[in-house]
Amino acid sequence: MIRRPATKEQESVLETRPAHAGGWLGLDDRVVVVTGGASGIGHACCEAFAANGARVVVADVDVTGASACVRLRRDHGVETLFLRTDISLASDAAGLAEAVVARFGRLDILINNAGINIPRLLVDPQGERELSETIWDRMMGINVKGAYLCAQAAARAMLATGGGVIVNISSESGLEGSEGQSGYSAGKAALYGMTRSWAKEMGRRGVRVVGVAPGILEATGLRSPAYEDDLAYARGISVEKLRKGYVTSAIPLGRPGRLSEVADLVAFLASDRASYIHGTVVNISGGKSRE
Ligand SMILES: NC(=O)c1ccc[n+]([C@@H]2O[C@H](COP(=O)([O-])OP(=O)(O)OC[C@H]3O[C@@H](n4cnc5c(N)ncnc54)[C@H](O)[C@@H]3O)[C@@H](O)[C@H]2O)c1
Repeated sequence: MIRRPATKEQESVLETRPAHAGGWLGLDDRVVVVTGGASGIGHACCEAFAANGARVVVADVDVTGASACVRLRRDHGVETLFLRTDISLASDAAGLAEAVVARFGRLDILINNAGINIPRLLVDPQGERELSETIWDRMMGINVKGAYLCAQAAARAMLATGGGVIVNISSESGLEGSEGQSGYSAGKAALYGMTRSWAKEMGRRGVRVVGVAPGILEATGLRSPAYEDDLAYARGISVEKLRKGYVTSAIPLGRPGRLSEVADLVAFLASDRASYIHGTVVNISGGKSRE
């Protein structure tokens, strides 16, 4: 191909356009809501979307999401918005979608990412760390009900502007199960069912629904000292032994996944490049197989 020198007019356009403009994913100016965007996978997703020119809304109970927005704006030159949101409350989920539409006029993509994990045993012979109704309700309230509330509010907004994409962040444990994490795994399995069901309901109406199921990753806020202590206890091992297990021979690629690797997958799935991927949950686990 012969490359002609740019005209004066083209040059000035090139100078003023940010580096990401016209990127392969075509996410420029898309309005993306990332729940749990203040930390971990959610924050990595915000970075990936902002780097690709999208307008990013961080919805989180953690108010450090506001400073994350400032950094994203500074580093990528995109519009951002922080909305303090507890996704387990219907009023917050509805308010989130309303505030996004009020600010940007639309809501194109929802990343249903916020989640918690409190390891507990079904029956603890010591009676110390047994799965209680309170902990079950708390995990389900955020991991399952929160995802449904946000999807419903976001889907209503998407339908008003012709469609959109919902990406649910599940977990490999949703299919595989996990010792000491039955409440968490059950919630993540629910996301498989919600992904497939919403895809059947919403596809013809222009809303694409997909899921992502990460395996073992580099540390995030989820892997807190309390979490490690609870999980080691539930498995009857020391915290040191638990930590050694993060680099397990069960991962054929020989290492935990990077947050950026999950975020790149999420950004791809949310883009029009993935326009025929619908109603499925993509596993990202370095080849770690399910039994
Ligand atoms: N880290 C992993 O290895 C891993 C593996 C598989 C799946 N996941 C899933 O990825 C998602 C993100 O987890 P992470 O590892 O990045 O954890 P993280 O703790 O680093 O981030 C979770 C974010 O969700 C927010 N949050 C919690 N409760 C909320 C609520 N009620 N309303 C709004 N925000 C809330 C937190 O403040 C935090 O910013 C979760 O759904 C988790 O289950 C994580």
